[in-house]
Amino acid sequence: MVRTVLILLGAPGAGKVTQATRLAESLRLPHVSTGDLFRTNLSQGTELGQKARTFMDAGKLVSDSLVIDMLFDRVGQPDCAGGYLLDGFPRTVAQAEALQQRFDGGEDRVVIDIQVPDELIVERIIGRQSCPKCSAIFHTSFNPPTSAGICNHCQTALTQRADDTAEVVGTRLAAYHEQTAPVAEYYRQQGGVCAVNGNQHPDKVFEACQVCVTEAAA
Ligand code: AP5
Ligand code: MG
Ligand code: ZN
Repeated sequence: MVRTVLILLGAPGAGKVTQATRLAESLRLPHVSTGDLFRTNLSQGTELGQKARTFMDAGKLVSDSLVIDMLFDRVGQPDCAGGYLLDGFPRTVAQAEALQQRFDGGEDRVVIDIQVPDELIVERIIGRQSCPKCSAIFHTSFNPPTSAGICNHCQTALTQRADDTAEVVGTRLAAYHEQTAPVAEYYRQQGGVCAVNGNQHPDKVFEACQVCVTEAAA
């Protein structure tokens, strides 16, 4: 059986979770976000969450071994047996190589790189609000909820992530350029990356991502 493994690359705030949610639904693939897995661990007070917290709050990448163990544990679960969608992993070449080694040849790998200029990232990050209950994402200017500060879907009060500040976003962007941009180059050499312009309406970004998936299957 061929398993689709869809990998979404992109800077912080590029729109990975925005697109991953839609793509996971349309392709019927489980959405696996390493950032969300860490945040769940944090809110549950696990040892892993405690270890990750210092890195995340500072905007730095969590060490490869912690991320890889957590990710492999997640994608080893039965719901991922038919494929999965990765959001926020791999973020270093070492993570990409570890994932590649885990594959057994039955994977149909699709890599999408959502590209957004740095100067637009800060505003996206600082205005982001998320729902702690249903995980819906909003933006104070670009995608405001119907009632300010309240989730459209479940009426819960929206919250802001601890790392979504003007100070931390600079470190996150630096980590992206130093450690994650080379991952796109790694995949370019390994058979290809589908680049998508992330600086357009989310519906248009979604259409472009769907074209990447269709072309990869052809
Ligand atoms: P993670 O949770 O992955 O954060 P990130 O990469 O910094 O990305 P974001 O979640 O901030 O952005 P996004 O691309 O999902 O954008 P979104 O769709 O929300 O990681 C957090 C931390 O965990 C890391 O810093 C690290 O410490 C650790 N970590 C996680 N994975 C790791 C790994 N593999 N290795 C090591 N450490 C790891 O969009 C952003 C905003 O823009 C939203 O408000 C949205 O509404 C808006 N928006 C989206 N699309 C558009 C559009 N087209 N036009 C206008 N606005 C838009
Ligand atoms: Mg995200
Ligand atoms: Zn909600």
